[in-house]
Amino acid sequence: MIAVKCKGIKKFYGEGENKTAALKGIDLEIPEKKLTLLVGPSGSGKTTLMSIIQTILTPDEGDLFIFGHHMNTMNELEKAHFRNENIGVVFQALYLIPALTVLENVILPLTIKGENESKAKEKAIPILERLHIGNKVHCSPTQLSRGQQQRAAIARALMNDSKLIVCDEPTSALDQEHGHACMSILKDLVSSDNRTVLVITHDHRIFSFADHIVNLNDGLIDG
Ligand SMILES: Nc1ncnc2c1ncn2[C@@H]1O[C@H](COP(=O)(O)OP(=O)(O)OP(=O)(O)O)[C@@H](O)[C@H]1O
Ligand SMILES: [Mg+2]
Repeated sequence: MIAVKCKGIKKFYGEGENKTAALKGIDLEIPEKKLTLLVGPSGSGKTTLMSIIQTILTPDEGDLFIFGHHMNTMNELEKAHFRNENIGVVFQALYLIPALTVLENVILPLTIKGENESKAKEKAIPILERLHIGNKVHCSPTQLSRGQQQRAAIARALMNDSKLIVCDEPTSALDQEHGHACMSILKDLVSSDNRTVLVITHDHRIFSFADHIVNLNDGLIDG
C-alpha cells in the first residue's frame, strides 16, 4: 500500500521576476509502514514538499493522495480534520510550551479537541515511558536535554494515533548517540506500531535507518 502519492506536484513562490519554482513536477510514492528519508541539499525543496505532504501548504499544480484520499478535493476544514486524524508532525523547532509540564504539552493535541484530561494523561504516560522520559513528566521542557525534548515532541505527535508521522530534521541538533536513539524510536514506530514515518534530513549518520530514501535535487526527485 502507498501512504503518500504525489503526481506532478509543482510549487512556486513569488511573482513576476521574483517567481521561484521550488518544486518542478514531483512524482513520488511513499510506501506505507516503512521509514522513508527525504534528503537533498539546502534549497532543493524539502521543506516545501514536506509542508505539502503535511497538507499545510497547497501545491500550485499536481495531485496529492494520502492513504488514497485525494487531498485536492478537500476544503480547508476537511483538510484540517483529516490532518488531525491522520498526520502527526514533529517540527524542527519542536514548539514545546515552557510554561506547561512535559505531560501537559504531550496531551495538548487531545485537550484541544476537548477530550477528557485524565484519560489523555492515562494515554500519555505509557508513551512517555516508552520514549524513556517517564521520569520527566512533571518537569518543564526547559529542564530537559535536547534529546529528551525531541522525544517529548515525538510523544506529542503520537497522541492522535496518526498513521503518518512526519519529522523535520529530528537528529540535526543531537549528537551521534542521541540521534541514533531517536531514529531507533522512529524505526520502532514502524515495526511495532505499523506507522508510516517520513523524515526530512541532511544527516548522513542516519541513512542506515531508512527502508527507503528519496533524493530531492533542485525541485525534482533524483533517480
Ligand atoms: N516563503 C518563500 N518565499 C520565497 N521563496 C521561498 C520561500 N520558501 C522557500 N523558497 C525557495 O524555494 C526553494 C526551496 O526551498 P525549501 O525551503 O523547500 O528548501 P529546503 O530543501 O528545505 O532547504 P534547507 O535544507 O535549506 O531547509 C528555495 O530556492 C527557496 O529559496
Ligand atoms: Mg528546509
